[in-house]
Amino acid sequence: MADDATTKVLLVCLGNICRSPMAEAVLAHQAKARGVRDRLVVDSAGTAAYHAGEPPDRRTVQTCKTNGVAISHRARKVRAADFGEFDYILCMDEGNLDDLNRVKPAGARAHVALFGSYSSQAGDRIIEDPYYGGTDGFRTNFAQLTR
Ligand code: 4NP
Repeated sequence: MADDATTKVLLVCLGNICRSPMAEAVLAHQAKARGVRDRLVVDSAGTAAYHAGEPPDRRTVQTCKTNGVAISHRARKVRAADFGEFDYILCMDEGNLDDLNRVKPAGARAHVALFGSYSSQAGDRIIEDPYYGGTDGFRTNFAQLTR
């Protein structure tokens, strides 16, 4: 259980193999760089279970590696219990947000929002699904998630 000094953040996308494991890795990396890694619990999940149990997409792994960011995750689907355990559930696009709000239990602890809404750049608000595109999309995702 998290104590008052710990913030628990769950990053969410559709498949939990491209964007949200990258967001999880970037957030953990940035927290470490700022000396607050021990005050942050970070995890990721997908609104769909298509890829449950799989490691991140090789393009996500490669993009993180290129940028010196460690990544290790196994895909899982969002659970109802997540809404009681996490302080923040932050997702990548409006589809994710709609899906989360649909399954969010009444009186949930978690604040559900777009991860990109915390960037000062308006163009970062939506982190687009890179799955069917080329590696450019993953590079764009990485830059957005880092900002
Ligand atoms: P993600 O990308 O939501 O960023 O993990 C996707 C991964 C898989 C699929 C769609 C998006 N898929 O349709 O299998």
